[in-house]
Amino acid sequence: MNKPSRAKPEAIRSVDEITAGRRLRRMRKADWARRLVQENHLRVDDLIWPIFLVEGEGRQEPVSAMPGVFRYSVDLAVRQAERAARLGIPAIATFPNIDMNRRDARGSAILDPDNLINRATRAIKAAVPEIGVITDVALDPFTDHGHDGILRDGIIVNDETVAQIAEAAVLQAAAGSDVIAPSDMMDGRIGAIRDALDGNGFQDVAIMSYATKFASAFYGPYREAIGTGGLLKGDKKTYYIDPANTDEALRETAQDLAEGADMVMVKPGLPYLDIVRRLKDAFAVPTFAYQVSGEYAMIKAAAANGWIDGEQAMLESLLAFKRAGCDGVLTYFAPEVAALLTGR
Ligand code: PBG
Repeated sequence: MNKPSRAKPEAIRSVDEITAGRRLRRMRKADWARRLVQENHLRVDDLIWPIFLVEGEGRQEPVSAMPGVFRYSVDLAVRQAERAARLGIPAIATFPNIDMNRRDARGSAILDPDNLINRATRAIKAAVPEIGVITDVALDPFTDHGHDGILRDGIIVNDETVAQIAEAAVLQAAAGSDVIAPSDMMDGRIGAIRDALDGNGFQDVAIMSYATKFASAFYGPYREAIGTGGLLKGDKKTYYIDPANTDEALRETAQDLAEGADMVMVKPGLPYLDIVRRLKDAFAVPTFAYQVSGEYAMIKAAAANGWIDGEQAMLESLLAFKRAGCDGVLTYFAPEVAALLTGR
């Protein structure tokens, strides 16, 4: 601590004993100053909007644990994609609620070129070609047991699942998907998907790896949204990462990048910002986080009870992702926050 050497009147010296002249509050004193020194910014360009799909026409069904979130039939999903594009949201990520009678033990309907995801992709790309469409190849919306892979004798079989999702990725690319985002955590899936895409002429379709997906309790409302909540037997601990682990998350990410991932994602978001920071520091690649359904539900529920300011908590939580090193965030708040940021 360097004490100023200049002699000072008694009154000032006594103040300096407290602060030593160092006052960070100088740059916090007014809005203009705070804006000048703000290090991180949340922009509409940072947002990816996950939307839920359902069969039918003119259907918009609320998801009860996610106020403001709906499942849309394809025609209305197109309207929502148009709205997202108007708001400047760069990309949407689609998740289907598949009819129960189309679900089976192997999730075979993922290999239907005209399944709900692929029809939605085609319709959205036809109406709003400028918006990025990100699709998932995990089997959970399609299996009658709610797991992300093929289940045999109580085991999620890795390699057979990988072969199936690689095939599904090609169908999704053929439907017009811009980014394949596998959320299943099978080993070797990124390399298999890359090879399958390249082998079928889809070299320009990117892969966003759910590189570090944790076996989390925060996915509850999502499972209601796509109708897997009641189906799931057991848990996903044999394929998702243990929430206690961080070195393992680094190894997963290194592997996915080596296999050809263009972007990596951390999921859930806010409780895992340490993982985001470690990945960004270690790999310096496009890094995203998924602010999952349970995180959305917590903010909405507390706000609905008048316990927190929902709008401020939403903005603060999203800015925290930027500070941690995210290039962007998958968030159900996307249209709400985009409307706020753009004044629309
Ligand atoms: C499964 C999948 C999950 C989410 C998206 N795809 C997790 C799960 O159900 O185990 C969670 C998304 C969210 O909670 O918002 N492949």
